[in-house]
Amino acid sequence: MTGLPWNASYLNDAPAPWDIDHPQPVIVRLASHGAFTGSVLDAGCGTGENALHVASLGLAVLGVDIAETALAIAREKAKDRGIDAEFALADAFQLARLRRTFETVMDCGLFHTFDADERPRYVASLFSVTEPGAMLYVLCFSDAAPDTVPHPISQSELRAAFNPTTGWQIAAIEAVRVQTTFHGDDGAPAWLATIKRIQTVARSIAHSTTRSVAQSLPAPNHRSTAPTSSP
Ligand SMILES: C[S@@+](CC[C@H](N)C(=O)[O-])C[C@H]1O[C@@H](n2cnc3c(N)ncnc32)[C@H](O)[C@@H]1O
Repeated sequence: MTGLPWNASYLNDAPAPWDIDHPQPVIVRLASHGAFTGSVLDAGCGTGENALHVASLGLAVLGVDIAETALAIAREKAKDRGIDAEFALADAFQLARLRRTFETVMDCGLFHTFDADERPRYVASLFSVTEPGAMLYVLCFSDAAPDTVPHPISQSELRAAFNPTTGWQIAAIEAVRVQTTFHGDDGAPAWLATIKRIQTVARSIAHSTTRSVAQSLPAPNHRSTAPTSSP
């Protein structure tokens, strides 16, 4: 996995269409309803607007991405705004390397970039950094108007990826709008999937796999304030 094509979105091709310079309204609404608790992971955080919004409410947030430039911009924003948030280079397919777990995970526009054959690895990776009871919020383009978005996702694709056999229970899938730089004020059709991490028979298999991967890799540096429980 290389972050170079994604990194280009934040350099030559900037501004990226998803880089809207403020948090997604859906995330702001979720946060105002107390959806984010404990330590929070933003998978594919980009330049960090969503992570920074949640961190500004006093939660411990780690944003991860494979685009170094996006992370540098996110860190700069955190510094300028005086917000305590952490941003780290990490591959969403190998989250076990973080060697920590999270009570809440958000994914704003990452899941929908993965092909059907990549999704199981991503879902297992999310599993490796959560415990039963953790909540996952996936904001992705929907198939309500497939010609208007680059990666339309159906509800059945969400249910195929997140279900009890993979360690997840979908609590709700809500039709929402996601803002981009080219969809106008109303944004693009999207799903907000609210998903709970559950115990599953697959757990021991996923754990042994992710543990063996994690054990063969160097651990990244962590802040002393970071949660340290291992998956
Ligand atoms: C559509 S953008 C969304 C960015 C951000 N969540 C937002 O809402 O502005 C997807 C992000 O996921 C990152 N990404 C893509 N593949 C990734 C991977 N395997 N691991 C971590 N991040 C990844 C990209 O670099 C990009 O920043």
